[in-house]
Amino acid sequence: MPLPLAADDPLVAAARTAATRAYVPYSRFRVGAALAGPFGVICGCNVENASYGVTICAERTAVVSAVAAGHRAFTRIAIALPDSPPGSPPTAFMPCGACRQVLAEFVGPEFPVAIDGLGEYRFAELFPNPFVLPGSR
Ligand code: THU
Repeated sequence: MPLPLAADDPLVAAARTAATRAYVPYSRFRVGAALAGPFGVICGCNVENASYGVTICAERTAVVSAVAAGHRAFTRIAIALPDSPPGSPPTAFMPCGACRQVLAEFVGPEFPVAIDGLGEYRFAELFPNPFVLPGSR
C-alpha cells in the first residue's frame, strides 16, 4: 500500500512542471518525472516520435539525463501523469515496465517512488523481480 503524499511535496511539483514540457503530438498524454539525489533534482518528460516505438518515457528521460550528467546515486523519484483523469484506476498512473527495469539498474528495493494522485511506493512493490545479468553485481 502506498503512503500518502503531502499536497505541497516539492518533488511532485517538479514532476508536474516537467509534464508541461512533454512532447506528445501523437498520444496527447503528458508525463513528467523528477529524480532526486545529492546533485539536486533532474527532470524528464516523455518525448514522442513519428516512429512510435522510439518514443521515450518521462522516467527514462530523467534517468538517462542524470546518468549523462554524471549522476548515478538517486534518493527518490516523483512521477506526474496529469492527463489521467482523477478517479482513474491506479493502472492509469503507473510507470511502464521498461522504465521500472531501467530504474532497477540504479536503485534498490527501498527506493521511494512518489506517484502523483496515488502515493509513495517502495520500488520493490512496483517491481519485485528485476532482471540482473548474472555476475554483473
Ligand atoms: N509514458 C511515459 O512517459 N511513462 C510511462 O511510464 C508510461 C507511458 C508515455 C509514453 C507515451 O508518450 C505516452 O505516455 C502514452 O503511452
